[in-house]
This record gives sequence, C-alpha cells and structure tokens, in this order.
Amino acid sequence: DSPASVKKQLAKVFEASLSATVPDEPDVVPLIEPCASKSGGKFADYQCNNAMSLWAKIKGKQTGFRGPPSVGQAIAKNLPPSEIIESCSVAGPGFVNIVLSKKWIAQRIEKMLVEGIHTWAPQLPVKRVLVDFSSPNIAKEMHVGHLRSTIIGDTLARMLEFACVESLIRRNHLGDWGTQFGMLIAHLYDTYPNPEDVNEAAIGDLQVFYKASKVRFDSDTEFKLRAQQSVVKLQSGEEKYLKAWQQICDVSKAEFEKVYQRLGVRLEAKGESYYNSLIPPTLEKLDKLGLIEESEGARVIFVEGVDIPLIAVKRDGGFNYSTTDLAALWYRLNVEKLDWNIYVTDVGQWQHFDQLFKAFRRAGWLPKDENEFPKCTHIGFGLVLGEDGKRFRSRSSDTVRLVELLDEAKRRCKTALLERDAVKGWSEEEIEKTSEAIGYGAVKYADLKINRLTNYTFNFDHMLNDKGNTAVYLQYAHARICSIIRKSGKDIEELKKSGNILLDQEDERTLGLHLIQFPEVFEESLSNLLPHVLCEYLYNLSEIFTKKFYTNCQVVGSPEETSRLLLCEATATVMRQCFYLLGIEPVYKL
Ligand code: ARG
Repeated sequence: DSPASVKKQLAKVFEASLSATVPDEPDVVPLIEPCASKSGGKFADYQCNNAMSLWAKIKGKQTGFRGPPSVGQAIAKNLPPSEIIESCSVAGPGFVNIVLSKKWIAQRIEKMLVEGIHTWAPQLPVKRVLVDFSSPNIAKEMHVGHLRSTIIGDTLARMLEFACVESLIRRNHLGDWGTQFGMLIAHLYDTYPNPEDVNEAAIGDLQVFYKASKVRFDSDTEFKLRAQQSVVKLQSGEEKYLKAWQQICDVSKAEFEKVYQRLGVRLEAKGESYYNSLIPPTLEKLDKLGLIEESEGARVIFVEGVDIPLIAVKRDGGFNYSTTDLAALWYRLNVEKLDWNIYVTDVGQWQHFDQLFKAFRRAGWLPKDENEFPKCTHIGFGLVLGEDGKRFRSRSSDTVRLVELLDEAKRRCKTALLERDAVKGWSEEEIEKTSEAIGYGAVKYADLKINRLTNYTFNFDHMLNDKGNTAVYLQYAHARICSIIRKSGKDIEELKKSGNILLDQEDERTLGLHLIQFPEVFEESLSNLLPHVLCEYLYNLSEIFTKKFYTNCQVVGSPEETSRLLLCEATATVMRQCFYLLGIEPVYKL
C-alpha cells in the first residue's frame, strides 16, 4: 500500500535510485522537500537534496564522481520508471529538481473524491493515547488559559483520531481537590449552618462566592483557621464536608459544561480527587525504589538536571499538585495502559512535567529513551494577552467569563450577518447556527493559527475580520465554493464517478498540487503537535483557490466545466477536513 504523503512516495522512488547510485553506502535516507516558490514561479515541485551530503561522504573514495553535480546527475539517471515523476533536472550544486506528472496529480484527487478523504490519513504506529487538556480548577475561574488548553487539546485529539489511533481518551484532569475547598466549605456553612440547606441555589454564582470567601480567608485569622480545619475534615471523609464539596463541584462543572457545549468539545472527567486512594501506594512504591528523600521537612524526589526537587509530600504531611500527578500517571500507565500521555497546559508548567517524567524514568516506569513507548509529552502554550500587552482581562472585572466571551463572538457575528442581503429569508434558527459556527470558529482559529508556544493577543476585531487570515474569511471562501457547485446545477456525486480532472492551465495545476500535499502537511503538523502548520496550509489553499484558480479559470459554462467543478469539490472537501480537525463547524451558504 502506498503512503498518502507525496513526499514519502517520492522518497521510495529515490531510495531505489540512491542504492543504485552509491551501492557501497547503505541506508542513505532520501532528503525530499517541496520546492520553495521563487519570486512567484517555481523551478519544480519537489527536490532531492542528497547529492551534496553524499559527495562529502564519498569524495575520498574511488567512485568516479567528480563533484556533487555529477552525483545529482547519477541520482536522476538511476531513477526507476515511475508514474509519479514527469521529469527531473539537476540544478546548482546538485539539487535534483522533480516535476510531478500532472496526470498522476489528477488521478490522486479523483481517487480521493471517490474513496473519501480518510484515505489521505496516515497510520500512526501507536494504539492507546490520552490527551489531558482543559483541566480547569473547580470553584476557581476557568480562565482564558484553560480556553487555550481546551481549543488546542481538542484539535490534537481530533488529529490523533484522524491518524487512526485505536483508542483515544480526552481527559479532563479537573482540579477538584485543592485547599481552596476549605474556605469555600467554611464560608458555605457559615451562611447555611444546616447541611439540608446546602444546595446549588445556596452557592449561587460561584465566582462571587469564591471571591467572598477569599476576602474572609485573607482578612480573618479565625476564619482562616476554620477553613484549614475544613480541609482536614474533607480529606478524612466527613460526610457533611463531602456533601458541600460535591455541591460545589456540581455547580462548577455545570458552568464548565456551558463552555464545552458552545465549543463542541467532548471531555471525560477524572478529577484530582479520583486518585486519592492511589497516592499512598504510589508513594510507597517510589520509596521502596529509593527515590524519596527528606529535604527541609518535606519528602521529595530529585531528578537529573534540575536543582529543585519535586515535592511529593509537603512539610505539613499534605499532598499537592505533583503528588496527584505521580499517582495519576501511575494509573494511566498501569491501569489504563496508555502508550502515549499528552498534557496540554501553559508553558509555565514545563518544569513540573519535566520533573514528573524524569521521576518516572528514574523509577524505571518509563523507558530511558524518551522517544520510546510508553511515552509522555508536555504540550505547552503561551499566554493570552489583552490589547495592552498584559495578561488578558475583561474591562468590567479582573476575571474573564468564558461563556460571555463566546457569546460576544457570536453576537458580533450575528450583527455582521444581519447586514447582508443574502440572509434575507433565512430562518431564525439558520441565523443562530451560522453565527455560532462563525463566531466560535473564529475564536478557535485565532488561537490555533499562531505557533502555540508564543503568546497570543486576544482581539475580536482581528479575529472577526472577513478579509484577513481568519476563520470568517475561510468560511466565506468555503461557502462560495459550495455555491458555485450548487449553481452549476450538476449532480456532483455523479461527476465524481464519471468525470476526469485536467490540469492544463497553470493555476489548475497549482491548486491540484496543493491539494495532494494535504497528507504530508497533516503529518508534519501532527508529528510536531503544532496545529498552526495545518492552519497555514488551509489559508494557502483558500488563497490559491480564490486568487489564482477562481480568478483565472472560468468554471460554470466553460469547456472544462466538469474538471473544474471537481477541483472545486476537492478544495471544499479538503477545507472541510481542515475545519473538522480544527474543531470548526463549516458553513455551506453565506
Ligand atoms: N488544573 C491545572 C491548572 O489549571 C491543569 C492540570 C493539567 N493536568 C495535569 N495532569 N496536571 O493549571
């Protein structure tokens, strides 16, 4: 079975040529790259860059080659016959330039249209994967950082699913067991002494409730003491305290759910509290292995290359964030038997995860080689900034309510939509659904299109601009393609079965080439877990379609109508697949 990626298919062909060219140099890995465009034009589609490094290796030996260009010539000459390649030429210091066969490009697209875009998915050699993302803390606000984790984590999960991972867990590691519960419960019972009266209504708005108890905690020493005692009572399992804890968790989860629902994100919750009973046995195992040491009254684990140890047990005997992650990772490896654990949080937590993974390696619970399975990866992201360049906050208060943020994106989209003539006659429901798809999609895309490691500035005007590199622009482009197909009056399903794609015009060929590069770009995006690579591809696809193909090639009514309608359909199909992977709901008419 041939791989979906063009690059990999070319690599196979060149592998054969390389072993014929330099039989004494085994296992030379073909270096194949797409050609960068040079001032608008391109010499070729791909290039093979092996000649230069090969020459460096063989120049002392009796090979008959006179320099890198002659090695390049030989590589080109020794290529086995292949339907992929139309022609090859050697340029500069020995680059082998490759022009793909346009017939082959066309056939790949035709095949994808008939058999489905899933045939362009790679097969990842890993079975059980967990993505730990979103993971807000109960009762504390779910802030924009958690929104980023939710958006990025969901996309990574979708990408892994597309790459045929057998089982994928989307884990919400809710912070449901912190010391913050002490003050919340103490405050709750001060207001409602009778446990019978403790319900969701009594808690009301959790952020208001949190703030009120925090004010007391910070100013009233007697209250602070009671709060600390409440933590102990909760942790020792006293029923009255557990009840209050459960109620607070329920209110908080319902609030998170509103965000997930708007974003169309599915998560399976296993909060920190789930691992309570696993903490003592995990610590005992680590202790037996000799990993746990005393340091300044705490019990800690030192790991290679880090001065500060991981605190397993605090000085007061209590457990912390790290303790829970030790137990949770043990569970994930031994009970859930995961091959790959991916944690999505802000980059600020890198050291925590570095220590955690190194501790497991020290214990022999993870392979020494970090690329070997089972493996763990921390996926970090930068801060969300406001226009002032500082941490993002809303104007009215110092916290940002995510639900309100998403509602505002939708509201703005709706206003813009209602100004258009095209929506006259739409039902109220259509307008709502479309505003949601565009608004929520825009929030996601604005986040995903930049390299996740950098900070990102939240700005409604930028993300909702219908002309820039935004989801709004992309939605319009996609809807326009759908409308071209609709207006042609042709049955596209019939055309897929019988029609042929021709790529005689330069812009048709450029579009065709970009389409068949989807698999390798997807693979690149996935292997580095960098969604912005996919966004860049999607934006370029829509630019090539709009500015080149659609500007210069008449579709409906032209002699090439069938072929061009199929190119429209292929573009829309690939765009929708990108939308799907980015968690964006496509709009078919606008
Ligand atoms: N609750 C944490 C926070 O808000 C994120 C948890 C990430 N997952 C984990 N297993 N530590 O920062």
